[in-house]
Formats: sequence, C-alpha cells, structure tokens
Amino acid sequence: MTSHRDQSRGYGKLILFGEHFVVYKVPALVGAVSAYTDCEVEFDESTTGVTVIDDRPAVPGYKEQKKAEADVAIDLVLKHMDVDPSKRGIKMTFGGPLSPVSGIGASASQVVALARALGHALPKPMTEDEINAAGYEGERGYHGTPSGIDNTAATFGGVLKFQRTDGAPIFTKKKLPEPIRIVYASTGITSSTTKVVGDVRAKKEENPEWFNGLMEKYVDLVERGEKALDDGDVNTLGKLLDENHALCQELTVSCEELDTLVDAARSAGALGAKMSGTGRGGLMLALTPTEEIQDKVAEALGKIAPQVWKTTFA
Ligand code: MEV
Repeated sequence: MTSHRDQSRGYGKLILFGEHFVVYKVPALVGAVSAYTDCEVEFDESTTGVTVIDDRPAVPGYKEQKKAEADVAIDLVLKHMDVDPSKRGIKMTFGGPLSPVSGIGASASQVVALARALGHALPKPMTEDEINAAGYEGERGYHGTPSGIDNTAATFGGVLKFQRTDGAPIFTKKKLPEPIRIVYASTGITSSTTKVVGDVRAKKEENPEWFNGLMEKYVDLVERGEKALDDGDVNTLGKLLDENHALCQELTVSCEELDTLVDAARSAGALGAKMSGTGRGGLMLALTPTEEIQDKVAEALGKIAPQVWKTTFA
C-alpha cells in the first residue's frame, strides 16, 4: 500500500490577535506553526468499526482528557465524508511532531489530517476548501460555535487574516516582509474551549456594554496589528501583542499561570507576549527579534513552563 502520510498534514496554530473576539465575526490574525499532525487511514473489509491509534507526542493528561471529544470529532468527519464504519472497518493512525496541548489547535490539526488521509484512502479528490470544510465539521464536535480559525490555519498554513461571517469565512494569506521568531510555552493546564467560549458569551449577554467596549478596543488593535505585521515593524507588533494580552485579561480568559509566563518572557527580552487560544490554561506566545533572544526567552520559560517550543512565521 502506498503511504500518503506526508500529504496529510494539519498544522498547529497560534493566534496573534483575536482569540474569543473572532467568534463574533471580527478579523483575527493567526500563524500556523511548523509542527503538524499527520494521519494514515486503512480500510479493512473483514471487520467493522473505527480503530484509532494515537501516536502523537505524549503530553501528560491531554489525550485522555480530550478522548471523548476527539471521538465525536472523528465521527463527524466520517459522516461528513460519507464513510460508514458499520460497512467496513477503518483504522486511523495519527502521528507527526505536533504536541497536542491546549491552545495549539490540536483538535483542528487532527481532523484536518484525517480529512486529508480519507481523501487519499477512499480515494476522493478534495480541494483545500473541501478539506477545510470537513475540518470545520470535526471542530463543531469539540465546541459548538467554532469560528473556524483553527481548522483554516491547520489546512492552509502560513500567516492568515481570518474573519468568520454568516456564510463561508473570509481569509487571506499574509506576506511578511521578514520572518518572525516566536517562542511559545504551555501552562500544562488543559482547558475546555466549549466552556470558556460559553463563559465569554454569558458575560457578553449579561453586560453587553462592557463587552462592546472591549470589542471596540480590539477592532482598533487588530487593524494596527495588521499594519505592523505588513510593515515588518516588530517593535510595534510586540507592544500590540501586550495590548491584546491586557484585553484577554479584561475578558477574564487569561489566568495567573499565563500571566506569569507572559511576564517572564518580557523580562527575558521578548518584544511582546500574550496568551494564545482559549486561555484559562493552554498556551502563551512571545515575539523575539533575534535568534539569540529567542533562545534566551525559551531558556527562561523552560525554567517555569512544562513545555516550550520555538517556531518562525514566514
Ligand atoms: C480557539 O483556538 C480560539 C477561540 O477564539 C475559539 C474559536 O475561535 O473558535 C477561543
């Protein structure tokens, strides 16, 4: 059997600007990390049912905590692609270098990898938009109202400006004048996107004026963020990442552990730092201007965070 594993990549992502706000149809900026999940699918006419082998790197607690949600997501992708495991057995093996942690879009990278692998195994030629749509279906298994930013970054890679709409999302690939060096670190806390997105929605409904005030500040911020990104102005970009973190704090989606990592990254020389993704655990990222500072920040974070990674957006 020919393996198509290397054509089944779903990338992890880091949100530069706009977690949570993006759910309410305003633009966000997201970068895919170099690490990805891949998948191999094999059909077996002699059996029925789904067998999942999860060879992704082990991260304490994550796979166990997310297993029920992942099973629902896998099921939704199979249904979306008209694959019926009661007719023939299907074995899927997930692997690749992406460490599945809260905030990195591990679920999206997994379902996008699955959609790609199914496309090869059926075989069924699929456009990138079809892969993305299948990934979105899977994401709905994880959290009721995903913006679609995670599966879009997982499918297309690169740095994207993304906006959810009432119909298909709008997104464009950004061309960066210079590569951007990032350090990202995990708090080691697995959070539930469904719960945190639900809490933000409840707070918004309880106090729309408060939420609209934050939203107004955010919309202005992301416009400036996009300009700084386009201009390659990393000093301004760093300050704006800090501002986005402050908005996340006001939105109550940051937490002590994230704030500690963000402060440590800034003290070690990062130009800016913020939480990234769902929050209340999960990940933070730091913008570093040179390889030397990237190493320094990674070293400083390595002393207090359970996992630290480096990536470059180009
Ligand atoms: C999760 O990576 C980002 C959130 O904004 C949820 C979403 O956009 O679906 C928290």
